[in-house]
Amino acid sequence: MTSKSRRARREVIATTFNASSLSAFTRLRFSFEWVCAYISTAVHFFINNQSALSVNMASVLSQLMGPWMDVQGFLIFLCVLLLVKHLRDVLINNMPPGPFPLPLVGNFINIGFSDPLGAFQRIAERYGDVSTLYLGNKPCILLTGYESFKEAFVEQADIFTDRPYFPLVDKLSKGKGLIMSSGHMWRQQRRFALATLKYFGVGKKTLENFILQECRFLCDSIQTERGLPFNPQHFVMDAVANIISGLVFGHRFEYDEHNFHLMQKYLDEFLQLPISNWGRLYNQFPTLMSMLPGKHQTAFASMSKLKPYLQEEIRKHKEERDPSNPRDYIDCYLEEIERCKDSEAEFTEDNLMYCVVDLFGAGTETTSNTLRWALLFMIKYPEVQEKVQSEIDQVIGQSRQPLMDDRTNLPYTYAVIHEIQRFANIITFTPPRMANKDTTVGGRLIPKGVVVMPLLKSVLQDKNEYSTPYEFNPAHFLDENGKFLKKDSFIPFSIGKRMCPGEQLARMELFLFFTSLMQRFTFLPLEGQMLSLKGTISVSSGPEPFQICAVPR
Ligand code: HEM
Repeated sequence: MTSKSRRARREVIATTFNASSLSAFTRLRFSFEWVCAYISTAVHFFINNQSALSVNMASVLSQLMGPWMDVQGFLIFLCVLLLVKHLRDVLINNMPPGPFPLPLVGNFINIGFSDPLGAFQRIAERYGDVSTLYLGNKPCILLTGYESFKEAFVEQADIFTDRPYFPLVDKLSKGKGLIMSSGHMWRQQRRFALATLKYFGVGKKTLENFILQECRFLCDSIQTERGLPFNPQHFVMDAVANIISGLVFGHRFEYDEHNFHLMQKYLDEFLQLPISNWGRLYNQFPTLMSMLPGKHQTAFASMSKLKPYLQEEIRKHKEERDPSNPRDYIDCYLEEIERCKDSEAEFTEDNLMYCVVDLFGAGTETTSNTLRWALLFMIKYPEVQEKVQSEIDQVIGQSRQPLMDDRTNLPYTYAVIHEIQRFANIITFTPPRMANKDTTVGGRLIPKGVVVMPLLKSVLQDKNEYSTPYEFNPAHFLDENGKFLKKDSFIPFSIGKRMCPGEQLARMELFLFFTSLMQRFTFLPLEGQMLSLKGTISVSSGPEPFQICAVPR
């Protein structure tokens, strides 16, 4: 095409495009043609210039590229088609504002790989509490701030109960269990789990005594370190895992039991996956990623290795159980499998295994990570540790263990536990939700079925709720008279119908373990130690491994 004819064509297109009588479809077609013409002009210009630079080069190129140009033209056509479709999808969908996504990769560049969580926070700061992000070519809504959480998950509780589909969840649990299931099956499984936890004494004295016994085992084990440096990770993890183990399996493990540690290792490996870059890549390209090596394969293998342990526990329970005297969650579940006639509730042995994984996964890492953060904060802020110890000494003394009833007389200690949870902020994102019909939050559209990612971190660091959101400051939970101050916006267990069913249990564990440790030991850093407050990347983020000295008091 000569430059004259190209100009003429552009003029015709421009004139026609401006004609007000044209339909939207015709305009779209012409804009498409215009883009085609523009790109083909650019390509020709580039090739022509190349030939001006070197005649020989041009003849070689034209010989080599001649047949290729057809393919090139076709590829350009495809790219333009994709681009136009992408622009149409992004611009005409009425979604909340957000950074402009690229075709195919979406906002991968905005999110990046080095600090995805920081990137989400920056996006929320720029675009507001309800914004749109593209993970690949799929839009999703980023939800931040206490007010939007409340509007979505409490005021519209029935609309936001379901979890969206993810290839990773399908691969790991077939959408079963408690955490990532949806609909009628989830409702029945959750109702049953809550009733069973209550039956075995969550919130009652029987369970309190069981936790107090574990507090003694934990303190005695730490005592054996004789004030020398040690990594508290295994002791704390074992103690917490034993509480959920008592409720689910009906027994505790010894701290040096090999299988117990193997189970924790497998759980840990597979809990890191959903929030890691490997998990993101798998959700984006499941077929490709299932053929490639990587950490996702380690996590899949861990799940396969974990299953036989659980199946063995279930087999033993089936052999030994007495239906009139259920000992634990598995016994009750086996009874429910026989009793329940509702096939859609899916009370099956397969589902039992996934529910056990969820209870263990959700109930172990979360509480033990919070307790490890607690120890780290106590050595980082020794003046807070001192105040906690002096309050415990005054109210309880050294002659008896702390009890749940002591809570009201320990306002400072109770405020410190809340601040530990707020500042540690172990669950950056709650598992995603989706709306079961079109709705709005903060006046912005949330279409049915679109993935909603609730950034819980933003609520616990909400500037409107906390005077110094980025500092460790127990005063956030104390009034001017030093009394404990309850805050509605303190929601580390989330809110609404999917909020954590283990909240009561976790609160008991945190209070009893923390006060017992503070009563028995003073925690000190190692000489010259640099303490990092950086969290690990996992579903529940813990501190990086650290050494500590526990000096008996
Ligand atoms: C400090 C400890 C804990 C924290 C901070 C925590 C926090 C959370 C959060 C934020 C959620 C997501 C809720 C949502 O989707 O909106 C959740 C879900 C869940 N938690 Fe916890 N949790 C803790 C301990 C526990 C314990 C001890 C258990 C065991 C009983 C447990 C069992 C679960 C289960 C089964 C779910 C899934 C609920 C559902 O999807 O319906 N959690 N937890």
